[in-house]
Amino acid sequence: MLVRPRRNRASSGLRALVRESSVSASHLVLPLFVQEGDDSETPIPSMPGHARLGIKRLVARAREAHGLGVAAVALFPAISDAKKDPRAAESVNPDGLLQRAVRALKQALPTLVVITDVAMDPYSSHGHDGLVDGGRVVNDATLPILAAMAVAQARAGADVVAPSDMMDGRVRAVREALDTAGFTEVAICSYCVKYASAFYGPFRAALDSAPRASAEIPADKLTYQMDPANVREALREVALDEQEGADWLMVKPGLPYLDVVSAVRAATALPVAAYHVSGEYAMLKAAAERGWLDFDRCLMESLLSLRRAGADIIFTYGAIEAAKMIAKRPTSFL
Ligand code: PBG
Repeated sequence: MLVRPRRNRASSGLRALVRESSVSASHLVLPLFVQEGDDSETPIPSMPGHARLGIKRLVARAREAHGLGVAAVALFPAISDAKKDPRAAESVNPDGLLQRAVRALKQALPTLVVITDVAMDPYSSHGHDGLVDGGRVVNDATLPILAAMAVAQARAGADVVAPSDMMDGRVRAVREALDTAGFTEVAICSYCVKYASAFYGPFRAALDSAPRASAEIPADKLTYQMDPANVREALREVALDEQEGADWLMVKPGLPYLDVVSAVRAATALPVAAYHVSGEYAMLKAAAERGWLDFDRCLMESLLSLRRAGADIIFTYGAIEAAKMIAKRPTSFL
């Protein structure tokens, strides 16, 4: 036998030398949920370790993450039903929850990158990401609402705005509105390739943002989020978002769509982000609670797989646990 692949696996030093991918905390984005009541904290049962946090606690959690090297947080607000309406008017309130949270974070942690979500669903009474009219989620009339939301977030200090709604043309609408308002330096992370996935369940429960059943419109997002069966369609979205001025392109969910991450990586020179979503985190936590899986190691293996597939940036609810693992064992979690 002349060829023995095992020679390169014989010691930890050799394995480190030939290792092709790595995860560092600087690639990670920690999504956080924010709610009213500065010092409040409401645990999210399907996402152990995560809670809806009042702004004071949000800043403390972000400080912990940033201290461990986590580069960024992505914010999602829990809006009370009383403030929801069909046009998501609360989303542009300069003193609204999200805008206050952004200001508090940027003031306390100026080097932390703050990413905000641009979509109507946390603010809309119907739970859809766009305007509902005549039994449909209408595209073009939604664009000015998204653009205004992005400008309000930029004004509060967001570094990156992230349209997650999947309306056609929204990246361009957001870019033009930001530039007109003078925010040429605010970047756009486009949720470019976002599938209509059941893995978002725990997230929607956390925010009470699921589309609501009504006679007017079905309680699903199938007319705007992508069909999980498709990958060529992802490349159309990539081409469009590049032309429209996106700075990062995201694939979401993560692990079940590694082939898509890889295809998007091959199709663009832009940074690629992958979102290891709420359901993926919940699966690992649930199995770990039963003693069936080692959470930390399965998390690191998941993140490494996303990096291997081509993701530069990873949004993960496990960012703090991962950063601690990396600090403890910088060369390998195995
Ligand atoms: C809202 C939005 C969703 C997620 C991020 N932004 C839910 C949805 O599209 O219904 C899901 C994140 C997760 O599951 O972790 N537009």
